[in-house]
Amino acid sequence: MFKQVIVKKPASSYVNGLTTSELGKPDYEKALEQHENYIQALAKCGVEVKILSKSEDFPDSTFVEDTGVLTPTFAVISNPGADSRNGEAKDMNNVIKEFYDDIRYIKAPGTLDGGDVLQIEDHFYIGISDRTNEEGADQLKKILESSDYKATIVPLKKFFHLKTGISYLGNNHIVAAGEFIDHPDFEQYEKIIVSPDEEYCANCIRVNDYVIIPKGFEKTKKKINDAGYHTIELNMSEFQKQDGGLSCLSLRF
Ligand code: GLY
Repeated sequence: MFKQVIVKKPASSYVNGLTTSELGKPDYEKALEQHENYIQALAKCGVEVKILSKSEDFPDSTFVEDTGVLTPTFAVISNPGADSRNGEAKDMNNVIKEFYDDIRYIKAPGTLDGGDVLQIEDHFYIGISDRTNEEGADQLKKILESSDYKATIVPLKKFFHLKTGISYLGNNHIVAAGEFIDHPDFEQYEKIIVSPDEEYCANCIRVNDYVIIPKGFEKTKKKINDAGYHTIELNMSEFQKQDGGLSCLSLRF
């Protein structure tokens, strides 16, 4: 069960953030509206939502997930791999101090984005991507293993972040797309397979009694519903334009 989430309002500089997509510039007003709907959906899932005010200096800082990895007993502040985002972790450190006494850090030359970290029960999977390097992944692995978690490093082939292509719903169920469908590291899980035309829906979040999914991906929605989960659908168009998904917009613990 999650009790708490942290989110951060998008700043007007959001529209100038990093992206690899070719979906056009986000509409700021729509992004604010979609962010507000995200907060409402989380509240419906029964979590307390801490809403951080926007930072114009950090266009991508609404994607708070990349700044940390949270466990029930300790937090790890990441060292985000994009130069323009690196300072976001320092700001988040001050927030995390309100919730955690035990805080660990990923240190340079290690880089790590939280979007590259997927927790499945007591096992963490750490992607190596354009943002997370081997050194950062190794540091996190050591931190986790020293606290009796398991950790596996997964070099990515195509996906932007690990969680761009895979999510964990609970009950041994994963939602998997692309390179993760037949990936040996995930063969022990029961898979809800996302077809190539619905790949964006592979990034979804289980929050207590609901799975929050992006709107417009009917085939994947049906599979998730058929597996026994209640879904909440949210229009994510303005976040998809900046390579962001549902998990990216919150830290959940
Ligand atoms: N726009 C999100 C990121 O590049 O990290």
